[in-house]
Amino acid sequence: MSSTPPTQDELKAQVGRAALAYVQPGTIVGVGTGSTVNKFIDALAGMKDQIKGAVSSSVASTERLKALGIPVFDSNEVEELAVYIDGADEIDGRGHMIKGGGAALTREKIVAAQSRQFVCIADASKRVEVLGAFPLPVEVIPMAAQRIMRQFAAMGGVAQVREKDGAPLVTDNGQHIIDVSGLRITDPKAFELEVSQWPGVVTVGVFALQRAHVCLLGTSSGVETLNFG
Ligand code: A5P
Repeated sequence: MSSTPPTQDELKAQVGRAALAYVQPGTIVGVGTGSTVNKFIDALAGMKDQIKGAVSSSVASTERLKALGIPVFDSNEVEELAVYIDGADEIDGRGHMIKGGGAALTREKIVAAQSRQFVCIADASKRVEVLGAFPLPVEVIPMAAQRIMRQFAAMGGVAQVREKDGAPLVTDNGQHIIDVSGLRITDPKAFELEVSQWPGVVTVGVFALQRAHVCLLGTSSGVETLNFG
């Protein structure tokens, strides 16, 4: 007898629930953005009386947290967070990620940087050997967009400005996103360091300096825990 394999949505819900094991009672939790994190936020509501609240990485997550009665703190109010829980668009075998499919990469990197542990929650489709098949999101100052796109073209990438309703998408920070296809990022840390220095780049969606320490990967045979140390 064969059972139906779990849907991607069910895998996201599984890892969202599994991430609760990393939330320490009495603390403020760092919360990412995206459809997988939404499952985590829903699960977190079940233990809202055991935590002080959350620091959020986007307007969307803030609204969801508040709607469920979870207090949201400004990141400036909190010196250090024990754990940051967030999804990824791609994750490699060392915990390096591509993030920003939901356009929240800048605030995600900020909250990740103030957290001692990054726990990535993702379904198995996100696990890759080399980063780059997912178009790399880069948040940019609009006046620098064309020059940055030419710099990516010189690296062999094809960049385009992300649009919403026929106009450039505007991030929570009032900036634009470019998505770069055709890259093969074999040295994520060197790549992140280089691109982060280009004038007009706000945040590059490679998370190598703020890599994941743990990944809870939703697979058809259950949640697999990858420890990157
Ligand atoms: C948001 O900007 C992203 O970094 C998300 O964490 C990433 O896109 C994963 O999103 P999903 O959980 O919706 O796939």
